[in-house]
Amino acid sequence: MAKKNILVLTGSARKNGNSDRMADTFIKEALSVGHEVTKFETAKKEIRGCIACETCWSKGKPCSFQDDFDELAPLLETADVIVFATPLYWFTFPAQIKAFIDKLYAYAGKNCLRPLKIKECLLLVCGADDNLKIFDGIIATYKEIAHYMKWEDKGIVAVPKVNKKGDIEATDGLVKAKEYGKMLGQ
Ligand SMILES: Cc1cc2nc3c(=O)[nH]c(=O)nc-3n(C[C@H](O)[C@H](O)[C@H](O)COP(=O)(O)O)c2cc1C
Repeated sequence: MAKKNILVLTGSARKNGNSDRMADTFIKEALSVGHEVTKFETAKKEIRGCIACETCWSKGKPCSFQDDFDELAPLLETADVIVFATPLYWFTFPAQIKAFIDKLYAYAGKNCLRPLKIKECLLLVCGADDNLKIFDGIIATYKEIAHYMKWEDKGIVAVPKVNKKGDIEATDGLVKAKEYGKMLGQ
């Protein structure tokens, strides 16, 4: 199995919340099979949204402005795999992780100075309502991002009916997150 460098981006501010547990379960398994994993908790960081100033790379870094994207950029540039582990907010990604996605703009165009080497991605998502349709929006967004960035979608774990911290324990979400932790290297 080829060892991979996996960047896990989380979207919830709730420590040990449902998506955080999926992230940690995935990470534990991925580490146990020999991958390198970095967890970056976007909800604990300050990343402002893109303001379309079109000055990416003009200061030698992806975004001309200073915020925690400066910390994330080197992790992004060395990652082979990106994992989004997030709750569903208003049928899509929470603002904090979306701000990161918006700043991917610096890596998307022809003017990108340091292209990403990410080849694969994974989505772990949970929401409170009790049908899978609630995930249509976030899954469509995730898939279009993967397609646009030429990342291979390695899978989606979408877990409905989880709201309170710990609800995820009563679902198959953690088992599936673990399976992906093992499977990503194969
Ligand atoms: C601001 C906000 C928006 C939410 N929007 C949705 C939603 O659109 N659909 C849904 O099913 N659950 C929604 N939820 C519920 C969360 O997705 C759910 O509680 C989830 O389990 C939280 O995950 P966490 O423990 O990882 O934070 C929302 C929660 C918050 C706080």
